[in-house]
Amino acid sequence: MVRVTVPIPGRAYDVVVGAGVLERAGELLPPLPRAERAFVVADQVVAERYLERLAAGLAAAGLPLVHLGVPEGEEAKSLAVYTAVLRQLAVQEAHRDDPVVALGGGAVGDLAGFVAATYMRGVPFVQVPTTLTAQVDAAIGGKTAVNLPEGKNLVGAFHQPVAVLADVTTLASLPEREYRSGLAEVAKYALTLDPELLATLERDPGPALRREPAALEDLVARCVRAKAGIVARDERDTGARMVLNYGHTLGHALERLEAFRGRTHGEAIAVGMRFAARLAERLGLAPEGLHARHVRLLASLGLETQGELPGAGEILAAMRLDKKYAGGIRFVLLEDVGRPRVVEDVPEGLAREVLVEMGAAAPVGGGA
Ligand SMILES: NC(=O)c1ccc[n+]([C@@H]2O[C@H](COP(=O)([O-])OP(=O)(O)OC[C@H]3O[C@@H](n4cnc5c(N)ncnc54)[C@H](O)[C@@H]3O)[C@@H](O)[C@H]2O)c1
Ligand SMILES: [Zn+2]
Repeated sequence: MVRVTVPIPGRAYDVVVGAGVLERAGELLPPLPRAERAFVVADQVVAERYLERLAAGLAAAGLPLVHLGVPEGEEAKSLAVYTAVLRQLAVQEAHRDDPVVALGGGAVGDLAGFVAATYMRGVPFVQVPTTLTAQVDAAIGGKTAVNLPEGKNLVGAFHQPVAVLADVTTLASLPEREYRSGLAEVAKYALTLDPELLATLERDPGPALRREPAALEDLVARCVRAKAGIVARDERDTGARMVLNYGHTLGHALERLEAFRGRTHGEAIAVGMRFAARLAERLGLAPEGLHARHVRLLASLGLETQGELPGAGEILAAMRLDKKYAGGIRFVLLEDVGRPRVVEDVPEGLAREVLVEMGAAAPVGGGA
């Protein structure tokens, strides 16, 4: 088991990564004085598989568990579900020392975190992430949110958990596509912040692809360490966290345009990272070879980056809508692996050329 501290001043907490963390949940939590019950938010799929193991772990610490059911996936992140969970807490007379626990993927984590941030003006929150995306990304950093019909994550709060318990054995049951989507975030950390992780994956992606617990423990812990370091420097997302957005400017644009071909978030950012690498080469920022290295790594992790794209004009328009867009197009680019840099004012013409090179249709009337 590996313990990584997220050193946020005044609110530091530990992320415990390993196999069998669920069964030991009670002893791994920090003291929760006066807590009487743990209110565990989980969807049906995850509850069926993992609720009992978590219940056993919490019972050992004298904390009975109350399960609050929510819909699967993004549907959990609505104001309606948020209200329903709050009302359940009230009906069951949860008090301000009782922890709210998120057991599940990033969607359940975002919802339960926002509930914990706001019920009685804030109660202790515990993350028990069960997807790779949630273990390496969503569960760390304290961002919580639900969606509005007008857009994703428009209502939320910063609310740091008191602990994150990441049991890598839960990843065994993830659907393959969901798992590979998480590997795209892992590749992001490897390329931007952890050359040693990159070397491990380049040498042999097999153990990660086979989800071997020992390999997963190391891989997840490394990503958590990378994210923890960044979050501690920029709790409120005003600067340094931008690096975590590597590949995401194009990734978000593709997700927005795609009802298109329905890439998952991970699949979309894989394309986005490939694009960023080529852009860095074309700007003369990175040495030739960075792009080829991206393509090799991503392909070895089962991430397709050569698929069909919307038109370059459409993509550029969608990128301009990105909330990270500030005047010119701003990208996180690499000077080399492990050396991220925010580059302002990337010429749109060049971005368009790279998109066309990657197979996006050139806008009518040329311009490329
Ligand atoms: N707060 C943050 O910093 C942050 C960061 C990244 C992503 N997010 C959010 O996270 C969400 C995406 O999270 P996600 O990728 O974890 O997907 P998800 O939470 O939508 O879960 C996807 C599906 O996986 C199932 N599932 C979960 N764990 C499983 C397991 N162990 N075995 C089998 N099935 C399992 C769930 O039932 C669900 O149907 C998005 O809403 C995104 O906005 C938040
Ligand atoms: Zn992401």
